[in-house]
Amino acid sequence: MKLFAVFGNPIKHSKSPIIHKLFAKQTGISQNYIKINVPINFFSKSIINFFKNGGLGANITIPFKREAYKICDTLTNRAKYSGVVNTIKITSCKKILGDNTDGIGLLKDLNNLNFIIPKSNILLLGAGGAAQGIIYSLIQFGCNITIINRTYQHAKNIAEYFKNIKKINYLRIENLLHHSFNQIHYDLIINATSSSMNGNIPNIPLSILKPDIFCYDLFYDKENTPFLKWCVFHGVKNISDGIGMLIEQAAYAFYLWHGIMPNTKKIIRKYKKNIFNISNISD
Ligand SMILES: NC(=O)c1ccc[n+]([C@@H]2O[C@H](COP(=O)([O-])OP(=O)(O)OC[C@H]3O[C@@H](n4cnc5c(N)ncnc54)[C@H](OP(=O)(O)O)[C@@H]3O)[C@@H](O)[C@H]2O)c1
Repeated sequence: MKLFAVFGNPIKHSKSPIIHKLFAKQTGISQNYIKINVPINFFSKSIINFFKNGGLGANITIPFKREAYKICDTLTNRAKYSGVVNTIKITSCKKILGDNTDGIGLLKDLNNLNFIIPKSNILLLGAGGAAQGIIYSLIQFGCNITIINRTYQHAKNIAEYFKNIKKINYLRIENLLHHSFNQIHYDLIINATSSSMNGNIPNIPLSILKPDIFCYDLFYDKENTPFLKWCVFHGVKNISDGIGMLIEQAAYAFYLWHGIMPNTKKIIRKYKKNIFNISNISD
């Protein structure tokens, strides 16, 4: 059976195997998709071993997306301009092809939810691999982005990285309170930090939240993430976690590997709310 995997650390929480099983069932493709927990300094070694042992493609998650970019022989445009890779595939010439499906997956979900229009003013929280991976799609769509991050230098590095494509604002968190930045109306806040994983909330001023704002957390859990709970508590009506993005980005990865696009609408409709209750899918 064709072998695929998701590589990360930690990886226990990942729902990718379930989603790929749903895609395989829907499209009639037979594949084995497993989780691989990689010790922090062993990413490239693990990937090489995986491909030597018959693996055909992989998803890469926290914290290896920048490292994955470096080991690729060729890149799709999405990956090349993002500088991070979340999907790889072995080509027929045994080369490693890197793609980034996070950005396009997020954009698709935000469009499905009606959370975004071209020219949306987005406040992006976080400057890790996921934040870097989604920016290219958002700026291609026409959005304006301001980044803030716990470590200011990381936000600055990302803005520098994209400076030849589009100007991205980056701020110190304390400057968001500054009068002129406080006056900016953000249409959408995207939490691309991993703070929710540890039950924390990114440090942003309450005054940024307006009742008509959209708030999206890339993280997902059985119940609302700490960030989304905080938004709801302060009157935000339109919120979403990252399950839809997870399904959409997985579909683009599936397409890269098999050349067939799963019907994500059906899967989101049926499983978005109860993905945490599925432990196995009968074949
Ligand atoms: N739904 C999906 O399909 C999808 C796809 C990709 C990622 N994700 C989720 O996105 C999140 C980020 O992933 P990643 O790959 O970017 O991780 P990463 O590369 O490790 O980056 C983590 C980011 O979170 C920030 N951070 C961590 N703890 C924080 C805290 N307590 N308060 C404020 N900021 C904090 C870090 O700030 P510093 O720079 O200061 O360290 C950094 O900006 C994860 O929760 C991941 O599960 C979801």
